[in-house]
Amino acid sequence: MNTRRRIAILTGGGDCPGINAVIRAVAKKAILEYGMEVIGIEDGYEGVIQNRHRVLRNEDVSGIITLGGTILGTSNKANPYRYAVRRNGRLEFEDVSSAAIANLKKLEIDCLVCIGGDGTLGIAHRLFGDGIPINGVPKTIDNDLKGTDITFGFDSAVRVATEGIDSVHTTAESHHRAMVVEVMGRNAGWIALHAGVAGGGDIILIPEIPYDIGIVAEKVKERGRRGKRFTIIVVAEGAKPRGGNTVVQRVIEESPEPIRFGGIGFVLGAQIEKLTGIETRTVVMGHLQRGGVPTPFDRILATKLGAKAVDMIEGKEFGYMVGIRGNSVVKVPLDEAAKGQRTVPPDDPLVQAARSVGTSFGD
Ligand code: F6P
Repeated sequence: MNTRRRIAILTGGGDCPGINAVIRAVAKKAILEYGMEVIGIEDGYEGVIQNRHRVLRNEDVSGIITLGGTILGTSNKANPYRYAVRRNGRLEFEDVSSAAIANLKKLEIDCLVCIGGDGTLGIAHRLFGDGIPINGVPKTIDNDLKGTDITFGFDSAVRVATEGIDSVHTTAESHHRAMVVEVMGRNAGWIALHAGVAGGGDIILIPEIPYDIGIVAEKVKERGRRGKRFTIIVVAEGAKPRGGNTVVQRVIEESPEPIRFGGIGFVLGAQIEKLTGIETRTVVMGHLQRGGVPTPFDRILATKLGAKAVDMIEGKEFGYMVGIRGNSVVKVPLDEAAKGQRTVPPDDPLVQAARSVGTSFGD
């Protein structure tokens, strides 16, 4: 009889820099410190449903701390409890959770470590309720998960977005233009707020503070009157005008989170140009924010979270997400993590600091 303990790792939802650093930390610690066997499930819950997985040896996770993306692949469409299938061109949803659970049970694992955002962790919570020992590690560039102060991937996305803002600054100044930089974040303005402040954005528009286009245009004109012949506007993809709506780029029916935002930057750019007479250009940072090497901060965070997840397995603690509270790595019940999004409080200290140095939020 094989008495060696076995764990599995799965990465679900949108990728982000730092996932491989978590896979590495979990697998290395499990193998080297506790002598566990490690299975990598391919393409998130898709691989659970289709029973696709492979053994991860120490050599397989060596040298991946700097790699963006996920060596296991991911899916942001597969939900075992509501699995999308096309029949005669029509989309239908099926509950395939019994098959998924049977596949997981066949693996005879002590724990499944799910690396993901609220969607992935919400499914993890349901699987835990259905008898699968699970722990979660919070991942998303959006930094919008409840139960943790920060998610890995966020710092790397902020770095890319800030570099984008830095680059448009010089061309905006040379051409005396307004430049709109659209960044990701879904319903949360964390990336726009942090990159906007770091990049010295003159106007930062976030979903949590609906803007007035008249106030935005007035700020651009007021800068002109002060001799500043350019303006940088950083807008979160989920930002919306007062009493107005977000701009939806596409709807992916089979996805548990079907709405994809995008395009507000172009709407805003056209309105600013019309209202101010100042030539305006828009740049969408898009998926660049999810790529590239993780920052040192994210690599360290990923390593801490991954190591803690394995310690919890060793201590037979399941049904938790590892998270950061202040300077401590903590465990948070999975249901707390799955309870919706953590958005920017309109009186967040960074919003206040930005306002105090003259940044407008368009309100
Ligand atoms: O949740 C991460 C994220 O990058 C969001 O910021 C963005 O709205 C969304 O995913 C984009 O999703 P997709 O990769 O499906 O276009």
